[in-house]
Amino acid sequence: MDSKTHTVLSDLRIDTPRLLARIDELGQIGRIDGPNGEWGNARLALTDADRAGRDLVVAWMHDLGLDVVIDAIGNVIATRAGSDPTLAPVMVGSHIDTVGTGGRFDGNLGVLAGLEIVETLAHAGVVTERALQVAFFTDEEGSRFAPDMLGSLVYVGGLPVEQALDLVAADDGARLGDELVRIGYAGPVSCPTAAAPHAFVELHIEQGPVLEAEGITIGVVEGVQGISWTEIVIVGQSAHAGTTPMRLRHDPAYCAAAITTYVRDLTRHLGPDQVGTVGRIDVYPNLVNVVPARVVLTVDLRNTDDRILRDAESRLATHLVELAESEGVAITTNSLARFEPVEFDAAMVDLVEATAVRLGHSTKRMPSGAGHDAQMLARICPTAMVFTPSVNGLSHNIAEFTEAVDIDAGANVLLQVVLGLSSSDESS
Ligand code: HGY
Ligand code: MN
Ligand code: MN
Repeated sequence: MDSKTHTVLSDLRIDTPRLLARIDELGQIGRIDGPNGEWGNARLALTDADRAGRDLVVAWMHDLGLDVVIDAIGNVIATRAGSDPTLAPVMVGSHIDTVGTGGRFDGNLGVLAGLEIVETLAHAGVVTERALQVAFFTDEEGSRFAPDMLGSLVYVGGLPVEQALDLVAADDGARLGDELVRIGYAGPVSCPTAAAPHAFVELHIEQGPVLEAEGITIGVVEGVQGISWTEIVIVGQSAHAGTTPMRLRHDPAYCAAAITTYVRDLTRHLGPDQVGTVGRIDVYPNLVNVVPARVVLTVDLRNTDDRILRDAESRLATHLVELAESEGVAITTNSLARFEPVEFDAAMVDLVEATAVRLGHSTKRMPSGAGHDAQMLARICPTAMVFTPSVNGLSHNIAEFTEAVDIDAGANVLLQVVLGLSSSDESS
């Protein structure tokens, strides 16, 4: 690459208002408004809202002249040809499904920033040597169909697609494969992917309080912490709330409460990096005057250190055995997700950091507390992530927000990292 070209490319910047407009337009699909002007999204995987979001993003991909393919798990990969078709592409992307009370930036930012990079390159008349791919992966959240990062896990060969298609939704029991067909995204391209990208970079909001608290603009993500999701089914004995003496009760709701407080105590005992959450509790029959028959709850445990995470899992399992014994209930467990901590490619992490510094931004190296598609792509190619701050550290909340100035910074770091990866001579 000659020096003039290099200067032009290193000075290239995205059109931030255009990116913000796409984020807001996609955010209208499954929009939820709060009482104080905050608003977010509900686009659970493979619902009608997810289909509508997918259709809008795919339409934008076609408008940008991209070659769009859909694979057998519904992942969508859009390609902008490079000048040298023999070179593996650089891929950016994330997800556009959301949790039930999600924000409009989680995942969406990384996908739409990819489209913004395509449009910026087109307007500048730049054709990169390597093709550029923008992807969104199916069911990253895992709220409806566990595990999370499902589409990217299948994409990299971490789960057979046949097994994924038979997963059942936590909310309505629908089969994943049937939902894919219903929304028109059961694609023809086989999984896992036949060829790995040259590299994968994901721009994502931090979803936590660290960058904002320290006044840092760009998070240089070194890896992702380990994740353990367990569904716990407690079967007791339904009984009359008034006539049944306490000594005769086999109360699964009491057990669920005991497990919830035990998880909190576990985090205190295992130290600052251990987090634990009981996010879902379903009580049956859920009536004021009936000692419940059954309770199903989920426990989400995470830690950057897999040894401590395994200790947490083992302590919880022992607690469940003791609780079943003392309360005379039957407790069974089902693992919904288990991913070990992931470290990103050191050279890629260095590239993100050097690029952010070159663009004049403050940076901080950090692990990701949330799971991301990048942790799956890291299994097949050099991978890194770029974080932008979250206002009040909030996410998985409709009040999720990231300032325009930080979106501008993050998307331009992504653009420049992609340009740095897109020529065969990467020293450029
Ligand atoms: O659960 C997670 O960390 C991600 O949001 N799926
Ligand atoms: Mn996300
Ligand atoms: Mn999320």
